Amino acid sequence: MSAFPRVSAPDSSLGLLSEGYEFISNRCRRLGTDAFRCRLMLAPAICVRGREAAEMFYTPGRFTRQGAVPATALTLLQDRRSVQTLDGAAHHHRKELFLECLSAESVGNLVGRFEREFRAAADGWQDEEGPVELLGELEAILTRAACDWIGAPVTGEEAEDRTREFAAMIDGAGAIGPRNWRGQRLRRRTEQWAADRVRAARSGAAVAADTPLGRLAAYEDASGERLDEAVAAVELLNLTRPVVAVARFMVFAALALHERPDRRAALTDGAAEESHAVDGARQAFAQEVRRYYPFFPAVGGKVREPFEWRGRRFERDEWVLLDLYGTNHDADAWDEPERFRPERFAHGGACPHALVPQGGGPLREGHRCPGEDATLALLRSFLGLLVDAVRYEVPPQDLSVDLSRIPAEPASRFRIADVRLIG
Ligand code: HEM
Repeated sequence: MSAFPRVSAPDSSLGLLSEGYEFISNRCRRLGTDAFRCRLMLAPAICVRGREAAEMFYTPGRFTRQGAVPATALTLLQDRRSVQTLDGAAHHHRKELFLECLSAESVGNLVGRFEREFRAAADGWQDEEGPVELLGELEAILTRAACDWIGAPVTGEEAEDRTREFAAMIDGAGAIGPRNWRGQRLRRRTEQWAADRVRAARSGAAVAADTPLGRLAAYEDASGERLDEAVAAVELLNLTRPVVAVARFMVFAALALHERPDRRAALTDGAAEESHAVDGARQAFAQEVRRYYPFFPAVGGKVREPFEWRGRRFERDEWVLLDLYGTNHDADAWDEPERFRPERFAHGGACPHALVPQGGGPLREGHRCPGEDATLALLRSFLGLLVDAVRYEVPPQDLSVDLSRIPAEPASRFRIADVRLIG
């Protein structure tokens, strides 16, 4: 039996806190491996990285997420009894609901709402004397778009409250201490709001049957039972909050464009005779944003049934962490991984085990994120707006990205000034 090397420290939790996204890669490099053993929060863990590791990890049925995600993150993100904590047939059945909610037509509806909200906000930015902070603005825009899309529109103060709550959940999920506590505190209000919306939809309020809220309220599991209200509320949040999270990728897209102004031309309407060529360029750029910039550092799983990989037997309940950021930057899978090069996606499809910012493997049978198409569509739309609908300045600011902070963001949260709506 091959034994993966073990890091010498008795516990590596402090290393994880101080090294963030690079924690696993740093040890892989030092130990000359892409799989090693360590202890995290006093529990034994196996950390793996790279395309082969992702293929092993995402072989359907191998891992459960139950007990594999720290409670501080779980309760701010997917939460207990959500689709992510289910396995087997129950998971499959609930996942279908998410895929229906995120059909191509539904994603089109979401993008339409995002564009409308973006233009309305940009119109207001024209009157601002000082710079606007893009990350916060995009979170507000996406909150309004997402709530309207799910069938629970919000305006005014309610929109501000929801924005603050979703942003705090996203920002707190990778932290321990005050940033996490704030997310937990604010989340309770959002759960109440979501439960109220579900109850109203079930008691005859006018909610279109084909909206995510309409589908969730009516959904029955494999045994014909409706979701209890608290679980339906959690899943409603699991369709809304991650849309708001796309703001981070959008800000990274704006940063990438700012640092590489020569890339703008290819993304502009009319840059190519065929509009699908512009779409292709925006898609490639969006893919490279998801690969290159940090978001989820890793995903954890506990072994469901023993199996062998690389000559080692993985026993039931062993805890495995797949390095998502490190896999997206793995030199064995990517040419010049530390360079931002959208042309690596110029010919379309990406290997489902090498590009894993939102998980890997098959969509229906595993835990891969059902929101990838929505994320890409929103990013393509945002790129189009950025190059064709607005002109803006990027004033001097600290744009550095600290890889020990989870989730990462440019230090200044990307400020723009002198905005003009031109198209
Ligand atoms: C910023 C963009 C996003 C990122 C970085 C992201 C990332 C992820 C990751 C890493 C997972 C876990 C995969 C695993 O457990 O193996 C996941 C799962 C999930 N995501 Fe996303 N996601 C994003 C956008 C979305 C969107 C837009 C939606 C829905 C509107 C969504 C809904 C979900 C759901 C429901 C799951 C659980 C799937 C399952 O367990 O089968 N995500 N996402």
